[in-house]
Amino acid sequence: MTQPTPQPIIQLRGVTKSYGGFDALRGVDLAINPGECTCVLGDNGAGKSTLIKILAGLHTPSGGQLLIDGTEATLSSPRDALDAGIATVYQTLAIVDELSVWRNFFLGQELTGAFGVLKRAEMRRICSEQLTQMGIDIPDVEVEAGNLSGGQRQVVAIARAVYFGARVVILDEPTAALGVKQSGVVLRFIAAARDRGVAVVFVTHNPHHAYLVGDHFTILKLGRQELDAPRSAITLDELTREMAGGAELETLSHELRRG
Ligand SMILES: Nc1ncnc2c1ncn2[C@@H]1O[C@H](COP(=O)(O)OP(=O)(O)OP(=O)(O)O)[C@@H](O)[C@H]1O
Ligand SMILES: [Mg+2]
Repeated sequence: MTQPTPQPIIQLRGVTKSYGGFDALRGVDLAINPGECTCVLGDNGAGKSTLIKILAGLHTPSGGQLLIDGTEATLSSPRDALDAGIATVYQTLAIVDELSVWRNFFLGQELTGAFGVLKRAEMRRICSEQLTQMGIDIPDVEVEAGNLSGGQRQVVAIARAVYFGARVVILDEPTAALGVKQSGVVLRFIAAARDRGVAVVFVTHNPHHAYLVGDHFTILKLGRQELDAPRSAITLDELTREMAGGAELETLSHELRRG
C-alpha cells in the first residue's frame, strides 16, 4: 500500500531573487514537508542564505511562487513567517549567556500571572520537561546559558522554536562551528524534531551531516538548483561528489601535486 503524500507546508515554484542586477537565485523548486528534513547544500555564495531569508520573510522573491499549505502566499515580514509557523534559527543565536537556560527558553514570551509577575517555577518546570522530552540532557535549567556547549545552545534555540509552535524550523549552518561530538548533539535533535512531525530545513556545507538526517537534498550553485533529490535517489558518495564539484577538485589536485 502506498503512503498518502502529505501536503507540503511550503512550496517554492521557480523562485528567483535578484539584488540589483545580480541573480542570487535563478529558479528554485522545493517542497518542504512535515516530518521531513530538507537539506539545502551549496558552496559560499550559492544562494542558501538568500533562500532562507525568503522563507523567513526578510526578503520577497523577485519572481516565482511561494505557497503555504497549498495557497499562494506573501511573507512580507518575519512576523508573517512566524504566524505561518516558520521559525528560523540563525547561527548568531538569540541566546543570552548571562541568563539561565529556562529564561532563555521563554525569552520574550514569558509566562506571567497577576500584575505581570513571572511564573518562574512553571517556566522552569516546562523548560525542563520539554528538553527532557526532546531527548536533551541538560541536568539543570537554572545554569547560565553561557555554560552550555555550542551544540546544547543550538538545541535550546531549536527546542524553544518547536515548543512555541513552529511547524517549520530553518537552521542556518547549525553545525558549522562545531566539532564531531557537538554536531552529534544537534543532528540527534534534528532527527528528534523531524520525528515529531516538524519540517526541518537544514542548511549546511557538509554532505556527511546532511546525509545523516536528510530525507531530501537540494544543491545550489551560484543561484542555480543543480540537484533536487529524495534520499532514495542519491547515495552519500554521489552527494559528496556533487557538493565537492568532483571535476574541479580533480583539476586542483593535478595543479597542486608536485613533480
Ligand atoms: N543584500 C545583497 N545585496 C547584493 N548581493 C547580495 C546580497 N545578499 C547576498 N548577495 C549575493 O548573492 C549571492 C548569494 O549569497 P548568499 O548569502 O545567499 O550565499 P550563501 O549560499 O548563503 O553563501 P555562504 O555559504 O557564504 O553563506 C552572493 O554572491 C552574495 O554576494
Ligand atoms: Mg549563507
